Parts: sequence; structure tokens; C-alpha cells
Amino acid sequence: MERTLSIIKPDAVSRNLAGAILNMIQDSGLTVVAMKMIHMSKAQAEGFYHVHKARPFFADLTAFMCSGPVVVSILEGDNAIARYRTLMGATNPANAEEGTIRKRYALDIEKNSVHGSDAPETAAFETAYFFSNLEIVG
Ligand code: RTP
Ligand code: MG
Repeated sequence: MERTLSIIKPDAVSRNLAGAILNMIQDSGLTVVAMKMIHMSKAQAEGFYHVHKARPFFADLTAFMCSGPVVVSILEGDNAIARYRTLMGATNPANAEEGTIRKRYALDIEKNSVHGSDAPETAAFETAYFFSNLEIVG
């Protein structure tokens, strides 16, 4: 069993797509073991994306991520990290496969509707960033 962090980003929450995206997640067989809606501060978004601090898109990305509420969840399952990345589709929705969340809902390379951890180390950091052990079921 593996855990990964999912964020339904502000572009999707503001278009009332949280339910549809959670349906896709649950239909894929991943189990939601923690979930909440939050509105991040700029500092919280910067802390979450600290690995991207040197990237040219860091300022825009962190401004976007605190522009409205997000739905943060922990997904559990065999190979959950890779399975959720496959379900999300490519970062740029123009390159995303049919049937993926980003193909269906993302607006552009930044407003791409969902985040998913990319490795066991980042999943551990990211799940602990938003959830205490008491908030995780199962
Ligand atoms: P995420 O971390 O959100 O799951 O997305 P990812 O792994 O597919 O993409 P990553 O390279 O980690 O980039 C993080 C987020 O930054 C925004 N981005 N903007 N303007 C740009 O060129 C650009 N590139 C990336 C996206 O919101 C991306 O998901
Ligand atoms: Mg990433």
C-alpha cells in the first residue's frame, strides 16, 4: 500500500469540479483516506512548492495556488503515486491522454486542475504538510 497527496486546484474548485474529479479518483480504485478544503496563504503555497523556488513559474504558480480554495486529500492504494499521475495526465493538458483528469478539465499548463505527488519522498513531505496522523483514517 502506498499513499499520495492530491490537490484539486483553485481553477477546478471554482468551476465546481471537485465532485467530478473525486468521482474519477474513486472510480480508478484509489481510496480517499483524508480530505479537507482549505484556502492557502501565499506563504503556505510557497512552502508547499519550495522545490520549484528557482523555476521561472514559481511566483505565478504560488499566486494561483492561493487564489481560491483547494481540496486536499490523501489517496491510498497499490502503486498510488504512479496510478494517480497516470489518471491526472500530462502537466500541459495539450499533451494529456484521453480519459485523464487534465485532458477533461485543465485550462492550461498552470491552471491544470490537479496536483499529485511525484515520488515516495515528496508524497511523505506533502501528506505531512497538510495532515496530521489523527486526520488520516484506516
Ligand atoms: P503538480 O506538481 O501540480 O502535480 O504538476 P506536475 O508534477 O505535473 O508539474 P510540475 O513540473 O511539478 O509543476 C508544478 C506546477 O507548476 C505549474 N507549471 N507552470 N508555466 C509553466 O511553464 C508551468 N509549468 C508548470 C503547473 O500548475 C504545474 O502543475
Ligand atoms: Mg509536480
